[in-house]
Amino acid sequence: MSTPPPSLTHPMLPEAGHDEMAQQLFIRDLKMWLGAEIEPLQGEIARKLDPGPAHNDRDAETFARLHEEPAFRSWAGVFRASQELMWDDIWRSVERQADTLDARANEVTLGSLHLDPDFKAPDYLVDGHVHIMPGGYDLDAPGVRQGAMMDRGGAVYMLGRNGGFLNDGRGKTVLAHVYALYPDLQPERILELGCGVGASLLPVAQAFPQAESFGLDVGPSMLRYAHARAGHLGVAAHFVQGSAEEAPFEDGSFDLVFSAALMHETSAEAIERILAESHRLLRPGGVAVHLEVPSRYDELDLWSQIRSQVERDYNNEPAWQAATSADYGALMRAAGFTDVAVGFQDAAWAPLPGQAGFGPDSKGVFRSWFVTSARR
Ligand SMILES: C[S@@+](CC[C@H](N)C(=O)[O-])C[C@H]1O[C@@H](n2cnc3c(N)ncnc32)[C@H](O)[C@@H]1O
Repeated sequence: MSTPPPSLTHPMLPEAGHDEMAQQLFIRDLKMWLGAEIEPLQGEIARKLDPGPAHNDRDAETFARLHEEPAFRSWAGVFRASQELMWDDIWRSVERQADTLDARANEVTLGSLHLDPDFKAPDYLVDGHVHIMPGGYDLDAPGVRQGAMMDRGGAVYMLGRNGGFLNDGRGKTVLAHVYALYPDLQPERILELGCGVGASLLPVAQAFPQAESFGLDVGPSMLRYAHARAGHLGVAAHFVQGSAEEAPFEDGSFDLVFSAALMHETSAEAIERILAESHRLLRPGGVAVHLEVPSRYDELDLWSQIRSQVERDYNNEPAWQAATSADYGALMRAAGFTDVAVGFQDAAWAPLPGQAGFGPDSKGVFRSWFVTSARR
């Protein structure tokens, strides 16, 4: 096992001209200001409107009452606008350089790309565009546009705190978890369910260069980009179109199956099916690792619970609450897994074999990730 060499960016990442960069930095700073300075005031207002613990729907009732408050409506409106501004700027910037990016994608010969013209994306991805990304994930935009937008947008959206322009903090954290709990695992075949542009798959694939690595996702344009991005970063990974609920691979095809921030973009029913699917896809003794946002709904304070409803209603994240409420341990055991581990993995930037960093407590957003893992 080896640690991938540091690399800050790659030729598929859309560049930002002077004005585009200024706009993207403005949006990042606006988001940070809204989160650090204005959001805590919303928490204070929520506490004043709290109907108390005896109320049946305390979080929903407080959320409804907040909508009578001009201060909350203003904050929620600007929160939404910051997201729309971000995509608007990034879409225009990607469109300007789309031909260049398509030409660079066509240079790649490493790995492979398998698109399925008959594939239909699940309703939860089609009914609304998750986090208001224009066109959503499943769009067959020409060439690599949709992936380029997701990759550049991801770095701005995560405020640069998930691994900068490589956005690979989640993948490195999955790898750290494997090192911590499954130090002897030497996978020959790796699969990421819901790989997006491959940002999380690559650090895992690079750490196990002897393995064949696969990424599964729904959208042709995003997968074309993921394949090109991996090739330009020197990784021969295979990208396949399909649903994580019913992946187009034989039973027992993989030694390591993982997901990173997939579940909160699906549904309660899909989470159960995806966990069962990860069991079917593993050979006996293989390992599943599922990483999610670092919070458990029932353990959140009132404002943080309401923040989940804000994500649902103002940022098209309908499954946020389902994903933070699901009993992953029970679902994994019901799917047939053994040795199920549920907890929080420290966010990792340079994971090394022998490091631990897994335990029962979250250190907070961008410092920890919620992880469930098990053996088949
Ligand atoms: C937040 S992104 C995370 C992408 C990637 N795992 C990462 O860490 O960078 C969630 C991804 O899950 C994908 N997704 C959602 N539901 C899916 C499904 N049923 N099958 C496959 N992919 C799905 C979306 O298309 C999107 O690319």
